[in-house]
Amino acid sequence: MAIGILTSGGDAPGLNAVIRALVFSGTQTHGLEFLGIRDGWKGLVEGDVAPLVRHDVMGISKQGGTILGTSRTNPFEFGGVERVQEVMSSSGMDALIAIGGEGTLAAAKRLSDAGIPVVGVPKTVDNDLDATDYTFGFDTAVQIATEAMDRLRTTGDSHRRCMVAEVMGRYVGWIALHSGVAAGAHAILIPERKTSMDQICEWVTKAKDRGRAPLVCVAEGFLLDTMTDVHSARGLDAFGRPRLGGIGEVLAPIIEERTGIETRATTLGHIQRGGTPTAFDRVLATRLGWGALKMVLAKKWGYMVALRGTEIVDVPFESALGSLKTVPDARYEEVMELFG
Ligand code: F6P
Repeated sequence: MAIGILTSGGDAPGLNAVIRALVFSGTQTHGLEFLGIRDGWKGLVEGDVAPLVRHDVMGISKQGGTILGTSRTNPFEFGGVERVQEVMSSSGMDALIAIGGEGTLAAAKRLSDAGIPVVGVPKTVDNDLDATDYTFGFDTAVQIATEAMDRLRTTGDSHRRCMVAEVMGRYVGWIALHSGVAAGAHAILIPERKTSMDQICEWVTKAKDRGRAPLVCVAEGFLLDTMTDVHSARGLDAFGRPRLGGIGEVLAPIIEERTGIETRATTLGHIQRGGTPTAFDRVLATRLGWGALKMVLAKKWGYMVALRGTEIVDVPFESALGSLKTVPDARYEEVMELFG
């Protein structure tokens, strides 16, 4: 049996560990063959497919990004089911493993509903997929954001400035919540919770009055209570979603003007998705790869792997899609006690 593997959507540290686990165990233990699909769904509809062998995956777990490349392409805009069937048949591909976030898994579900043998592996640094407790890439992003804020604190302390650190998180504030707590931020602002400028300035002033250089951690998708749409000055992505980034730069001058504290903003952006994955992400990604392999061997099409507690489980695509895993009010409120 020959299995096609694609990675699609924004990259996440750990993608290569999934690919390695699949190819290594699939070829060595189960006698499967693999075909690497270049640049996500784009490569599948274009027939950009090549054999993937053990040699190709040696030592790649510690490597960031994806050796297969990725893109934000919707296969249904480029021939859909018919085109996918054509390419699978001409390249001798019997089944498909799609590694990606919500958009990728939604496309995989549509293909599966149409009879294409496909299983999924969830991926997102934002950690916003409800069906799985954690996605790989999230731990690495939190680690990078925490280290960055530790650095911002020493320069902020030296100049007695307020530092605003903007982290990723389009719809959910998990990266902001975890890295903000780890770095000891004096305010954490997340997409789930609109907040007023008065409240933010109160936290900043309180920290300053205690002799601290205030640190504000804000998720890219955060909205002030006066905003109806996310801040976006960079147009739309391939799925028509606003490109985010820059809310920290919006907040900084207002904080400075209202509190009188000199303020600087730093947007961490794609640094959070780059570089070497943490050990946790490598292990999680490897286990998810093995889980996907088991589903392929059992011909359990239309399912994706997920982490529940410490167990790797299978969940149908439909239960994995639809609702986002947002930060619960109670989780945010316990953290709010640390603000100011
Ligand atoms: O979906 C994950 C994510 O990292 C978001 O947090 C961010 O808004 C987006 O991807 C950035 O996408 P791109 O890499 O296409 O700029």
